[in-house]
Amino acid sequence: MSLFSSSKKQKKGALPGQELQMKTINIRDVIAPSSIVLASDHFKIGERCGKSFFIFSYPRYLNSSWFTPVINLDIPMDATFHIHPIDTGTTLKQLRKKLTEVQAEIMDREEKGLVRDPALEIAYQDLEGLRDKLQTSTERMFRLGIYLTAYTEAPEKLRDIETSLRSILESKLVYIKPLTYQQKEGFISTSPYGMDQVQTHTPMNTSPLSSTFPFVSFDLSANEGILYGTNLHNNSLILFDRFSMENANSVIFAKSGSGKSYTVKLEILRSMMMGVDAIVVDPENEFKTLAEATGGSFLNVSLSSPYHINPFDLPEPREDENPADVIRSNIINIVGLVRILLGGMTPEEDAIIDRALTETYAAKDISPQTDPKLWAERVPLMHDLEAVLEGMEGADSLVRRIRKFTQGTYADFFNQPTNISMDKPLVVFGIRDMENEFRTSAMYIIMHYIWNKVRSKLRKRILVVDEAWVLMQSEEGASFLYGLCKRARKYWLGVSTITQDVADFMRSTYGQPIITNSSIQVMLKQSPATIDVVQKTFNLTEREKGLLLEAEIGEGLFFAGQKHVAMKVVASYIEDQIITTNPEELTKIKKAKEEIGGNAADKNPPAIKPKDAPPEDIHGLKQEKSELPADTPLSEISKMGDKQQIKPPPDIPSEPEVKGVP
Ligand SMILES: Nc1ncnc2c1ncn2[C@@H]1O[C@H](COP(=O)(O)OP(=O)(O)OP(=O)(O)O)[C@@H](O)[C@H]1O
Ligand SMILES: [Mg+2]
Repeated sequence: MSLFSSSKKQKKGALPGQELQMKTINIRDVIAPSSIVLASDHFKIGERCGKSFFIFSYPRYLNSSWFTPVINLDIPMDATFHIHPIDTGTTLKQLRKKLTEVQAEIMDREEKGLVRDPALEIAYQDLEGLRDKLQTSTERMFRLGIYLTAYTEAPEKLRDIETSLRSILESKLVYIKPLTYQQKEGFISTSPYGMDQVQTHTPMNTSPLSSTFPFVSFDLSANEGILYGTNLHNNSLILFDRFSMENANSVIFAKSGSGKSYTVKLEILRSMMMGVDAIVVDPENEFKTLAEATGGSFLNVSLSSPYHINPFDLPEPREDENPADVIRSNIINIVGLVRILLGGMTPEEDAIIDRALTETYAAKDISPQTDPKLWAERVPLMHDLEAVLEGMEGADSLVRRIRKFTQGTYADFFNQPTNISMDKPLVVFGIRDMENEFRTSAMYIIMHYIWNKVRSKLRKRILVVDEAWVLMQSEEGASFLYGLCKRARKYWLGVSTITQDVADFMRSTYGQPIITNSSIQVMLKQSPATIDVVQKTFNLTEREKGLLLEAEIGEGLFFAGQKHVAMKVVASYIEDQIITTNPEELTKIKKAKEEIGGNAADKNPPAIKPKDAPPEDIHGLKQEKSELPADTPLSEISKMGDKQQIKPPPDIPSEPEVKGVP
């Protein structure tokens, strides 16, 4: 208050001549621009120029979201929609008058024996239709004024802006004009005062008016697809089908513990309901519960595990594929694998291996000339390659290095025929227990195996590569992943690349191309150390950058093509129980599971008839849960088990059923 009142008070006691010295600065002086210049077709406020426009003509039909290109235009602009309702009674009177005129003219032409005028007849039908709608109150009439003010620092750019606006709108038969000698009114009308000083209106009924709904760029609600989360701007739902984009790939970047895996697991769970299959390469074995709950398979791949994949496997060539190409591409992939396993090769060794691989296949009667159907039973193993190399000149060093993988401990993994299958809707390859040294190569072998399977049978699939930076550590791995992303679309595959270390990911030459080839980009919480790389990579605004730094777990940005939204990933209670990796919750779930198991062993299971059990039971918790409200925490459930409060009826089967667990 003192700002406004002080000058008055001081005025009383001030001596003449002191007035000027004592005058305090008014708040208007602080916020006002240094100057305002009004010209006939533009204005200048301080250093900024602006130009106001109004729309004066619309076509007979308006498509929805016709205004979207203007909103998405990369020009600072204010647009206002002034919508004034008109009294329906008055409109009906005017329409009746108009209709009488049109009808009279039609009759006049008929009497004179002239041919019919289609324009008059359409006008007649339109008027009648509108009258019906207004009379039944299904629609109302409005006067619509749309005004735009575009801003720029350079006055010479105003002309370009006008040209782009005109061309965008005129392509939709909407016509725009600058507000000549009315720039001030235009500026005021486009400022958020709710004042319409331009007063240039077009009458419009409800349906066409609804097509001007401007909040299109923020919304990602489609009729198809799955729920990704809620929109933080307006709490609407983000429903989206990744297979509707030009490619179905996605990248997810965020710091550790911000909910990357959680988001992807939720996506898998919901996509599976829509009939989409999923394959996961999981370096933390954290998708196991999800696989068990959905009846999928979890393959724990390690040096000592019973699951084997033979990198020499060949897919059966599809009809449009040349057998020679299939063998060729497999050889290239195995060369890549050997390069990773041996920690690099000289160009000579590269050539030797390449030749040796062709011979290894040929020795097993696998060549472009033989029948591809018989290949599967003759596939060679790593030791066959070793045997061929032994007979080649200059391959001594290679033989010695490869022997590590054909004999001894490592042979259990690298020198075995494939004994797994991928016929379940969800297949998870867990590689947590794989020795660090071989993680990249294991991931490479698995991805290669998956790729061969994906190519041989067309299905709608998602491939998740969690902690992709492991694969990106080697040039071969990175280039393979990039190739996969580039070609996935043709095989109805969406690749989800997840990584926590953006800087590492971007260091690879394939980092940026993988991002470019992914139509969906999800960013959750970022650390201050990496935010600059993320901002540069994804061209984030300062606001988006701030949002990512301050985001909670499961919050972030969801980019799909041109559309950007701030998103919060939300799961239901049941979904959360399947996908959480929170150690505390997992311990509780485990404990509850054991208690149910223990109770069963004592022939003392909780009291509930199996027919009452909810269909969505998981973790074998169904007996307790159906007696309790859905939001009862697991801790409560397990406590109840402790106290043995629930007494069993005699006719309950003693083993609790755990759905989906093999
Ligand atoms: N949207 C969410 N709502 C509730 N809890 C969540 C959400 N997202 C993640 N969490 C919880 O946050 C924790 C970390 O999530 P998650 O394992 O997905 O992180 P991450 O980004 O994959 O981490 P890392 O990079 O270490 O693998 C988990 O306990 C998970 O249950
Ligand atoms: Mg994770």
